[in-house]
Amino acid sequence: MAQRANPGGQLGIGQILGRDELIRTIWEILDNQSVMMTAERRIGKTSIIRKMQAVPPEGWVPVLQDLEQFHSANEFATAVYGEVSAFVSKKANVLQQLRSAWDALGGTEIGGVLKLPDGDKQSWKTLLTTTVANLVANQEDKKLLFLWDEMPYMLDSICKRESVEQAIDILDVLRALRHQHNNAFRMLVTGLIGLHHVIKRLQDEQYTNRPFNDVYSVEVTPLSSSYGELLARELIEGESLACRDMDESAAVMAAEGDYFGFYIHHIARRLKMSGQDAEPEAIRSCVQEQLLDPNDPWELRHFRERLPLYYPSDETIVLTILDSIASSDEAISVKDLLQAIKQQILFDDREQLRRLLALLEQDHYLKRDMEGRYQFRFPLICRWWRLDRGL
Ligand SMILES: Nc1ncnc2c1ncn2[C@@H]1O[C@H](COP(=O)(O)OP(=O)(O)OP(=O)(O)O)[C@@H](O)[C@H]1O
Ligand SMILES: [Mg+2]
Repeated sequence: MAQRANPGGQLGIGQILGRDELIRTIWEILDNQSVMMTAERRIGKTSIIRKMQAVPPEGWVPVLQDLEQFHSANEFATAVYGEVSAFVSKKANVLQQLRSAWDALGGTEIGGVLKLPDGDKQSWKTLLTTTVANLVANQEDKKLLFLWDEMPYMLDSICKRESVEQAIDILDVLRALRHQHNNAFRMLVTGLIGLHHVIKRLQDEQYTNRPFNDVYSVEVTPLSSSYGELLARELIEGESLACRDMDESAAVMAAEGDYFGFYIHHIARRLKMSGQDAEPEAIRSCVQEQLLDPNDPWELRHFRERLPLYYPSDETIVLTILDSIASSDEAISVKDLLQAIKQQILFDDREQLRRLLALLEQDHYLKRDMEGRYQFRFPLICRWWRLDRGL
């Protein structure tokens, strides 16, 4: 089906390509366990959960909540209470029980806006616990699934605006609730690249629990080559871009966009705006231009900008690691990497290098091959890194 370019916008459900198999797997896992989705930015997490919400299998009622909008534990628990109330709204007695708990905490509802008293920073715990208990006791043939997008943003703002302990408490309460209502309380949490840094910060504050060790982690990858090419074809058609050989153009466009739907959409938009045909050469030079564009239309700068946040005391060494790997045409062994780093900065700590490499792998900068050699995980990011760093 032909479609128009929409980089970063909300796609129609039918335009979310190549995710059905992953979605099926996630639903299967959810039968037994909660799930977290680890994935790079802009890879298509929100699109996946929107599709899950739009077409759930029999027996599930998914609700999607963007947690980025919540800045306190009270706001979060209130939103959960609101969704659960809507879910049980046909059962007057259950609704009444929920409402009593809400009233007991001094909650108000003005013009449809629910609010817990500002002064009490702990009432969310009671609200969340009673709400979930009520939910699991009253979901008979259909289960509610919380699709929680961007959890690290919420935790981060709670750390900043309330306290680190409050963020820790949320993770602990959620884990306790999963444990207590093992068969009936399910969540799918996204946006977890970077969560280990939030947790690490919590750990520095003597937090020793592993808040997600009972949750199954699913990784979202770029599109498969065939779906990347299908998307490119649909966009070439939808934007009425001329090309001599559709198969070749679609293959080049998908590969140049590294099979990220986001970049493939961007290429189509750019070709259209600059009035070019979708010929392989035009596609390649369009990508080069986009990578060099100081306005950073592909939002790649965050790969550089998040480093000081993720690695506050190791930024220089991390930059050197990434520069050395980006400069190497092939995957590089730890031994050769240490050699390359030593030539640039004063550093000779193999163990620390290993530790940082493991984190960079978790952060999706790097991947390791069967021989234990490292390279950039995404070729396009490597290419951008070289250009941006003038390597
Ligand atoms: N399955 C897909 N098929 C086609 N295009 C896609 C797909 N998934 C994502 N895209 C493209 O990538 C863009 C970003 O997708 P989405 O918002 O789902 O990613 P995300 O991982 O949630 O991003 P963020 O990290 O910003 O939250 C979409 O607007 C669309 O252009
Ligand atoms: Mg998203």
